[in-house]
Amino acid sequence: MSEVTEAAVLNALRVVKDPDLHRDIVSLGFVKDIKICNGAVKFTVELTTPACPVKEQLKTQAHDAVRALPGVDQVNVNMTAQVRSTLGPANLLGDGVKNVIAVTSGKGGVGKSTVAANLAVALAQTGARVGLLDADVYGPNVPIMMGIQGKPLPSATGKIAPKEAHGVKTMSVGYLLEDAQPVMWRGPMLHKALEQFLKDVAWGELDYLLVDMPPGTGDAQISLAQLVPLTGALVVTMPQEVSLTDVRRAISMCKQVKCEILGVVENMSGEIFGRGGGRRTAEKFQVPLLGEIPLEPAVRVGGDSGVPVVVGRPDSEVAAAFREIAGKLAAAVATKQAMALPVLQ
Ligand SMILES: Nc1ncnc2c1ncn2[C@@H]1O[C@H](COP(=O)(O)OP(=O)(O)O)[C@@H](O)[C@H]1O
Ligand SMILES: [Mg+2]
Repeated sequence: MSEVTEAAVLNALRVVKDPDLHRDIVSLGFVKDIKICNGAVKFTVELTTPACPVKEQLKTQAHDAVRALPGVDQVNVNMTAQVRSTLGPANLLGDGVKNVIAVTSGKGGVGKSTVAANLAVALAQTGARVGLLDADVYGPNVPIMMGIQGKPLPSATGKIAPKEAHGVKTMSVGYLLEDAQPVMWRGPMLHKALEQFLKDVAWGELDYLLVDMPPGTGDAQISLAQLVPLTGALVVTMPQEVSLTDVRRAISMCKQVKCEILGVVENMSGEIFGRGGGRRTAEKFQVPLLGEIPLEPAVRVGGDSGVPVVVGRPDSEVAAAFREIAGKLAAAVATKQAMALPVLQ
């Protein structure tokens, strides 16, 4: 009987390719802790996101590739993930936050906050550490959508402790305002508020910080991009063609601040508003379409009651759409990170 070696195991695993990164898991450095005991082989595959949409597929392929080696009669694959940073050296957020993603749109009412909240929760459900910053100081929606009340408290380090719900750490100007208090934010105040939310909140270790941006002039986009390096932006659109002008504004704003567009999401797809605006936008501006979310009353009910639909109705079609988009978003971030990875031989 031939003896199984680590080199043989690694060689066998070179057939397993990450479909997003277009490279094999060995040269990407994903294979770790190989243990061989007679015919039993154990190893770990460390992906760059726990939200990897093809995790199970990769696990099966890795298992089968090693199982086919002569002398191997048992294979145990342990799947883990370590999200890597796209932000470079420490910034205002310290170095615990690995990726910052702005969720943006050309205008209000397209479902930006709804999408941001559900994607944040869907990412957290995969095991990722996630934060949601409500940068929409004009109409903070995060407290209601996540079902959070009360003022934030100081943390042990003297910073403000984020408020947590559904596995996501959140901060919103809504926690600091009295009910229905009108706020006349001017540019410099907005900048200062965003700076505090980044610097003075004890975000801790986060794989993804999603930022629910306000619609409109772009002040917030410019401020955010000046304050922290951004991994990229997710643009939310509605199906109708009319909103293309607004989308164009959102996209050119991102380009102006040199923020990469990670993808477009079409929200409220279906009978009433039609379909296809997201696809047309993606084609026109040459950015990826990450998915379409149907117009579905359960989404609004979830938002109004503080239980996002991915938690309240996890088996629904719309929850599945959110999970699929969360996976694609994480994959887009991982692809960006991988550009900087060394190739292992
Ligand atoms: N896919 C959807 N199906 C049904 N209602 C939705 C959907 N997406 C958003 N909504 C509802 O539309 C309204 C606007 O969404 P919201 O997320 O507040 O938009 P924005 O943050 O862009 O202003 C909310 O009442 C929300 O519950
Ligand atoms: Mg909103």
